Amino acid sequence: MMDQALVYEGLSGLSLERIYVFPEVDSTNDEAKRRLQGRRSVLVLAERQRRGRGRQGQRWESPPGGLWFSLGFRERNVKNIPLLSLLAGAATAQGLRESGFAARIKWPNDILISDRKVAGILVEMEAEGPGSSIVIGIGINVNIAEEELQKRLGPAGVQVGTLMAIAGHPLDRVAILLQVLQRFFPLWRSWKEGRVEPILQSWKGLSLTLNERVLIIAAGRRIEGTAVGLDHNGALLVRTADGRLQRVTEGHLIHLVL
Ligand code: BTN
Repeated sequence: MMDQALVYEGLSGLSLERIYVFPEVDSTNDEAKRRLQGRRSVLVLAERQRRGRGRQGQRWESPPGGLWFSLGFRERNVKNIPLLSLLAGAATAQGLRESGFAARIKWPNDILISDRKVAGILVEMEAEGPGSSIVIGIGINVNIAEEELQKRLGPAGVQVGTLMAIAGHPLDRVAILLQVLQRFFPLWRSWKEGRVEPILQSWKGLSLTLNERVLIIAAGRRIEGTAVGLDHNGALLVRTADGRLQRVTEGHLIHLVL
């Protein structure tokens, strides 16, 4: 079990109104939405999730030993959600790098270490009254045997990995959490202030997808081409064979190896 006192102590300098640590929840994203009622910011952590959710309606296996948490914020002006999801990916990858792992990002925010997906991010938003609630869920496979996750299929061509298997020993989850959150908040402030460059630069610097040939499947559309950049809203720019530039903000991406 995670040492709650250490979590509270480590997070005391970060501007979070409430921090909750549970042995078990359905999904920390759902719990964060509930706890956000009447609050401006919350962090919800759980030892395990009964119904962890992944992107595109997928299930996210969340046994004990992982880092399953969600940041919830109530905001007045919400714009640029795709950028927020890149921001969370960049903070997670940077936090893992500070913890000694060569983490990179596969668009939009799958965190990979040598071709194994070790973390994923699910950003959800709901309009509410004058503002919106934003929930940023981050799942990191830390102290879990890799076989335990094999039943979960990663995105096509991507294997699932755990930090413990990669490092060869268990890791301090609170230390990893703090590394990620320390990277998260400066980028979050940039996002709130509409300063997009620091976010785009962090993501680009860690991206596995830029300059690669990609196939994206989104809402029945198939877009094939070369990932050439990001626009100011965080959309991926893909140059297709006919020379056109397509903007993509969601979907499933496959790196094509030619
Ligand atoms: C993905 O499909 O890559 C996104 C996975 C996101 C998982 C995290 S774990 C904490 C939070 N709670 C959830 O139910 N999902 C996110």
